[in-house]
Amino acid sequence: MEPSGTAEAATLLAQARRLVVFTGAGMSAESGVPTFRDALTGLWEQFDPRALATPEAFRADPALVWGWYEWRRGAVRRAEPNPGHRAVAVMAARVPETVVVTQNVDDLHERAGSAAPIHLHGSLFAPRCSACAEPAPVPGAGEEPGEGRRLTPPRCGRCEAPVRPGVVWFGEALPEQAFEAAVEAAYRCDVLLTVGTSGLVYPAAEIPQVAARRGGTVIQVNPEETPLDAVCAVNLHGRAARVLPALVRGAWGDAAAPA
Ligand code: APR
Repeated sequence: MEPSGTAEAATLLAQARRLVVFTGAGMSAESGVPTFRDALTGLWEQFDPRALATPEAFRADPALVWGWYEWRRGAVRRAEPNPGHRAVAVMAARVPETVVVTQNVDDLHERAGSAAPIHLHGSLFAPRCSACAEPAPVPGAGEEPGEGRRLTPPRCGRCEAPVRPGVVWFGEALPEQAFEAAVEAAYRCDVLLTVGTSGLVYPAAEIPQVAARRGGTVIQVNPEETPLDAVCAVNLHGRAARVLPALVRGAWGDAAAPA
């Protein structure tokens, strides 16, 4: 049984000319990527993830924070895109203009075939120098710790300062170009599909609000209520890996649905 509103949302998608797909942690939940708000286990049990994801935490204990991100990168490398990610790639192929905007730091949209998602909160695969911002090489595949442990970050090849994860920490600004491109896409779109985000973390949560203010139709996929309920024309209470393929089937037929 698909959530009520699926047929209506599929029709809106089929008619869309400019689509924004805006995703959060719920998009990758069914790929087994631990979400940010999940309780931490093992070495990090005693830490609040929100306290580890700050510039202050990295300055105080770089090996603790680098080790945590390397463990997360390993978990993402072992995960696979789910049918929801693949459905988003089908939408991008079908709608004349699609922009995928994600708050996720994993690479599952790319691996499912969405060419260049906008990463509002950076990426686990873009380490850089903590002092001079020089991009640093991603450690080799398989070098991530399989389980939690502290790990001394590598040194910048240019200035020798410790390398940091290429993600946006609490208290830091979003990458300017990425945020501007996302706002611009939201401003221009006729449909915005928001998937698996709590809509609580600003300024990213502005994106669906911008689309709604400009007269775009906002469709939400989330099993829970969120503050974005208020701006949604259609609210699909279900999980991404199931609802998104159903939307593709409803919009373009069974043959279009991802495997
Ligand atoms: N399908 C769809 N939605 C889901 C699923 C699923 N299978 N499972 C969970 N969700 C929903 C939850 O109901 C919740 O509303 O995904 C949302 C996840 O919310 P958050 O954990 O707050 O994730 P997100 O909105 O991406 O957080 C934004 O905050 O944690 C920081 O920087 C981090 O990018 C992240 C940002």
